Amino acid sequence: MKSKLGLEDVVITSSSICHLNEKSNTVEVRGYDLLDLAEHSSFEETCYLLWHARLPSSNELIEFSQTMSNQRQMPVGMLELMSRLPKTSGMDSLRTMVSALAAYDPEPDNTSIEAVQRRAIKITASMPTIAAAAYRSSQGQEVIPPDPNLTHAQNFLYMLFGKRISSSLSRAFEKSLILYSEHELNASTFSARVTASTLSDIYSSITSAIGTLKGPLHGGANEEAMNLLLAIQSIDNAEPHIRMLLEQKKRIMGFGHRIYKFGDPRAKLMKKISKQVGEETGQVKWHQICEKVEEFLASEKKLYPNLDFYSAPAYYCIGIPIDLYTPIFASSRVSGWSAHIIEQLQHNRIIRPRAEYVGLSGLKYVALSERQ
Ligand code: CMC
Repeated sequence: MKSKLGLEDVVITSSSICHLNEKSNTVEVRGYDLLDLAEHSSFEETCYLLWHARLPSSNELIEFSQTMSNQRQMPVGMLELMSRLPKTSGMDSLRTMVSALAAYDPEPDNTSIEAVQRRAIKITASMPTIAAAAYRSSQGQEVIPPDPNLTHAQNFLYMLFGKRISSSLSRAFEKSLILYSEHELNASTFSARVTASTLSDIYSSITSAIGTLKGPLHGGANEEAMNLLLAIQSIDNAEPHIRMLLEQKKRIMGFGHRIYKFGDPRAKLMKKISKQVGEETGQVKWHQICEKVEEFLASEKKLYPNLDFYSAPAYYCIGIPIDLYTPIFASSRVSGWSAHIIEQLQHNRIIRPRAEYVGLSGLKYVALSERQ
């Protein structure tokens, strides 16, 4: 048995949710181009597509959006629980609070498809409320309750800022949520499926996935990408700073991808969005620094940006605190995780791979008193 480091190119299941086509450099969700969905669809419609494997009719979408918006409130008691936690990062608090949601569910272990679908709506509707409330309370600010009259994306920003922002900025934000919604068997989705395959509950699966997403090689990269841009500070410093990091053998966050070796198709649209948001908010400098870094890394290392690189300046210009970038990613990807959990349960077999054993063998136990 030979192992494959990082499970590169190992196919572990069949799936009808997302198709990454390396040849055409496209991503399709349930057969639709993800970039097309981001340009023309809403986050709610994308969730419906993911969970029902088809686009909704207009009546179905109205009903679905209402069901989702009615479930944005956190259970009573969660806010107090949150305020008792020591100060922690946005991802740590999101992971803890999503796990805590299970305690407020009278039947958390129900793994029937219908029950899991209902919980997917509840968890997806609640995650922005949790993320925004955790952030505001950590800053000593008043927590803003959700507004059921706003769309998912508008409400997320409203709960964060306590006021509505321009429709073009909130639409830019919504496009980023759609781009983040689903991406085949990335590490966090794999985690969610492994947990679901044991017939554990959806809260446990989503909690596993949030913990996996947090790492800087995965979702944590969008926060690290912004920290990198802040360290660079000026267009003139872009090349020298990146050169210095490469000399120190450091990874450039927001660059490289396991699947896309010639560029992440999602990053192309995110780049457009970042430019638009930079121009609208008068902070185009961050986008220009990104372009310099992109140009340099393409020529120097043949490394190209992934989705996390250009989402960083876009979020920064909208005024989103850096600590929330990865929780935002999680609040979107929960839609994809849920679709995968449902698919796993529909054709379940416990996921239990093997390891190639390379350790010692046949040693004789030595009593403690006789050891050197
Ligand atoms: N900066 C510098 N060198 C890099 C980078 C990078 N960002 N990415 C890959 N490389 C180099 C790496 O050093 C290696 O070189 P060598 O063969 O000389 O040792 C080569 O490229 C192959 O890298 P790898 O680590 O074997 O590639 P992987 O497929 O295992 O890792 C990755 C993929 C995304 C973890 C990696 O590209 C990386 O660490 N990127 C930075 C973190 C990041 O942006 N993550 C977000 C990923 S996409 C969206 C998401 O999931 O959140």
